[in-house]
Amino acid sequence: MARVKLDNITRRFGGSTAIHNITFEVPDGAFWVLVGPSGCGKSTILRTIAGLEPVTEGNLYIGDALVNQVAARDRDVAMVFQNYALYPHMSVAQNLAFGLRMRQSPVAERQARIEAVARSLDIAHLLDRKPRQLSGGQQQRVALGRAIARQPRVFLLDEPLSNLDAQLRDDTRAELKQLHQQFGITTLYVTHDQVEAMTLADKIVVLHQGQIQQIGTPQEVYAQPANRMVATFIGNPPMNILEATWNDGIFRVDTQKFACPGELVDALPATKGQLVNLGIRPEHIHITSPEAAHLHIRVAVVEPLGRETLVRGILPDSARTIPQVLHLQTAPDVVLQPGDTLPIRLDLERLFLFEATTGQRH
Ligand SMILES: Nc1ncnc2c1ncn2[C@@H]1O[C@H](COP(=O)(O)OP(=O)(O)OP(=O)(O)O)[C@@H](O)[C@H]1O
Ligand SMILES: [Mg+2]
Repeated sequence: MARVKLDNITRRFGGSTAIHNITFEVPDGAFWVLVGPSGCGKSTILRTIAGLEPVTEGNLYIGDALVNQVAARDRDVAMVFQNYALYPHMSVAQNLAFGLRMRQSPVAERQARIEAVARSLDIAHLLDRKPRQLSGGQQQRVALGRAIARQPRVFLLDEPLSNLDAQLRDDTRAELKQLHQQFGITTLYVTHDQVEAMTLADKIVVLHQGQIQQIGTPQEVYAQPANRMVATFIGNPPMNILEATWNDGIFRVDTQKFACPGELVDALPATKGQLVNLGIRPEHIHITSPEAAHLHIRVAVVEPLGRETLVRGILPDSARTIPQVLHLQTAPDVVLQPGDTLPIRLDLERLFLFEATTGQRH
């Protein structure tokens, strides 16, 4: 096992920069998750650590060793790709054993480890099959099993559960977490799945256009997002963003207004009347009486999800061609119809302020 340290890593392809000045250190045994929109550089970071991509600038360390010039096969990392590849002529058992055999493990130990991994990933009944006789989800679990059986110093997992159905995904995610608790192998994990990111990560790294936006625990990036990009990327449904101006302690949102909470006044921009973005999560908006309302919205879409109901509302304003949208969650027994006018209250202590152009938090 080993820490993984990226020190100002940049990777350019010709004139375009895929990742820019990436610096972080994953402590020995930690589980870090990389998230961000498509094309933000997640796979490039993993491939760089694996040694499948050279770095253009910067230094990369695994353990205490500088590995910029170390060949991929000598880095003792195991990578499971988005598009995993199994050895087609080998059985599942031989695929699982592949990395172990390469390192001359004793036969009995090898056997025991393969059986344990196959059991935990629910592929023990498939050991004699060839990859072409497996479903996509089964192949993906074999690829994962092959990496786990090897017990490398570092795991690099690039959307390893993307081909699994919802139930299997939940089960395998829990299994991965347990395997990590058991073996404590330093892991970098890429996913598009919010639940995976939140449940697996010791720390989440949020990336956008090849640059780090924030590194923090799942709770930190959710509750204290560094900027608008992080705020709207983490969380489902995402944080609502409203355009507003403020003047003398009053926020104006289109034709409506409400008083700015005292603790936010200090954070407000110096220029009165300046455009700001207000951020509020759906779970921090509540239906209230007309007198107690901060805003009134018109219900556009009602989506009952069983445990709660998701409401998409708009702020009616004839001056806008596209009205501002606000999502909120209500209890499942609240009866709402499209077209209803809804008085809403915001948890003002949960209100975020972002600079309208850069998205930086005030
Ligand atoms: N071999 C390459 N040649 C040129 N550009 C590349 C190459 N590989 C990646 N890129 C570019 O680098 C950027 C980052 O790509 P990367 O594959 O790391 O994104 P990603 O975050 O993994 O996206 P996704 O979520 O879609 O898998 C993209 O703009 C991509 O087009
Ligand atoms: Mg990718």
